[in-house]
Amino acid sequence: MRIVETNSPDETWALAAELADELGPGTVIALHGDLGAGKTCFIQGYAAALDIDEPITSPTYTLIGEYEGRLPLHHIDLYRLSGPEEALGLGLEEYFDVNGITAIEWAERAEGLLPPDLLHVQIKADSHTGTRTFRIFRENEA
Ligand SMILES: Nc1ncnc2c1ncn2[C@@H]1O[C@H](COP(=O)(O)OP(=O)(O)O)[C@@H](O)[C@H]1O
Ligand SMILES: [Mg+2]
Repeated sequence: MRIVETNSPDETWALAAELADELGPGTVIALHGDLGAGKTCFIQGYAAALDIDEPITSPTYTLIGEYEGRLPLHHIDLYRLSGPEEALGLGLEEYFDVNGITAIEWAERAEGLLPPDLLHVQIKADSHTGTRTFRIFRENEA
């Protein structure tokens, strides 16, 4: 388990860029954390590191955004899902891109439907400061 604290969105971007240098095609990143924790911010930093110019937004009506960069990036946000039952019908597995990176916000809402070698990124915000604590670990280390 790797534990890193960031004190600003810029530092979160820097952490994401570091990971983007280390992780290869086929990686599926499961992001966890409350609303406002910094999941989207992390993915925006990751996208920038992949030379993606298009802004990464949190899609309101679509669950999945696809972006072209040094590697393709699939951004999935499961916030609107009630849980795994609802996730079943989505055919999520089609979006786990073996040639690119898949980053999933609220990944726990699709528990049991995700690949076995997930990289988990858990983010906890300190409510009084801008500090975010990142816990980064592989599924099999959990
Ligand atoms: N260290 C930090 N890392 C990431 N975001 C931070 C940090 N400090 C403050 N913020 C702010 O927290 C918010 C995170 O929002 P967002 O990434 O959309 O959260 P989530 O996707 O988890 O709901 C942003 O407004 C960002 O500016
Ligand atoms: Mg978000």
